Amino acid sequence: MASPDSYLRQDWQMVHGVPMVCAFSFDWDRIENFQSRPDDIVIATFPKSGTTWMCEIVDMIMNSGDTEKCKRDAIFNKVPMLEFAAPGKLPPGTEQLSQVPSPRLVKTHLTINLLPKSFWENGCKMIYVARNPKDVAVSFYHFDLMNSLHPHPGTWDEYIEKFMAGRVAFGSWYDHVKSWWEKRNDHPVLYLFYEDMKENPKREIKKVMHFLKKDLSESVVDEIVYNTSFDMMKDNPVTNYKMAPSAVMDHSVSPFMRKGVAGDWKNHFTVAQNEKFDDDFKRQMADTTLQFRTEI
Ligand code: PPS
Repeated sequence: MASPDSYLRQDWQMVHGVPMVCAFSFDWDRIENFQSRPDDIVIATFPKSGTTWMCEIVDMIMNSGDTEKCKRDAIFNKVPMLEFAAPGKLPPGTEQLSQVPSPRLVKTHLTINLLPKSFWENGCKMIYVARNPKDVAVSFYHFDLMNSLHPHPGTWDEYIEKFMAGRVAFGSWYDHVKSWWEKRNDHPVLYLFYEDMKENPKREIKKVMHFLKKDLSESVVDEIVYNTSFDMMKDNPVTNYKMAPSAVMDHSVSPFMRKGVAGDWKNHFTVAQNEKFDDDFKRQMADTTLQFRTEI
């Protein structure tokens, strides 16, 4: 059994070719052999793309906008992260999920090839949220600074290089967003964008509602929009991750609910970094129809 000292601030461990958070990498059979249920709803993302936002939206939709029910527990217990593990500290996501009544909401950052095959076999509904890579990189850098399950990110300049090369948790952002985009052609995947959610949250929440075949009134949808705004979720102890152990997340370094905007990358990228990133983006995204907006 691993002890926290053996995985805090340790480098990624490769799992089937994907750089994985060290603490998550032990006992990988628990992931491969995980049994889905046909009515599981999977919320999949590359990290820092709006996962927590979508988890709360889906929980609110499934509970018909009942704010009291949605306060029942912290977001990481209401919507367990499938691959999560912190041996000796917290129960793994697979164990948490085994105790959740159906229909379960399952959070994951796994690549298509790492997601347990049971989810594909059962035809589980999946909601994928993608966010432009410049804001993801900035958000991920700040997350690596405050989250001791990850190695220290180094300088911002070093970090951008690692991000472009896919040497960050869950690997290449480019491969992640492209492969999930293709997957929607042969599996029930609702593919949404963080920037669209910022631009018109009501429109995007309605897409989720229709995908989940829930019929809620306009006033309930308006309530969900209001309660899942950045300011509300930042103040809400259920959603702002302040309930996570401080030994893992240090909000004084950088809060989990940091800025919640599209375009913050402009405050971090130098002109030279931006040009290099754009060139690399064109090369890595030449083989897809997928489009991103870096501001709204
Ligand atoms: S994680 O750790 O991968 O699950 O993180 P994730 O939830 O995917 O992403 C965190 C970023 O999402 C922002 N966020 C929001 N933006 C807008 N509205 C709402 N309601 C919201 N909730 C979370 C959060 O602030 C992180 O982005 P940055 O850019 O760091 O602020």
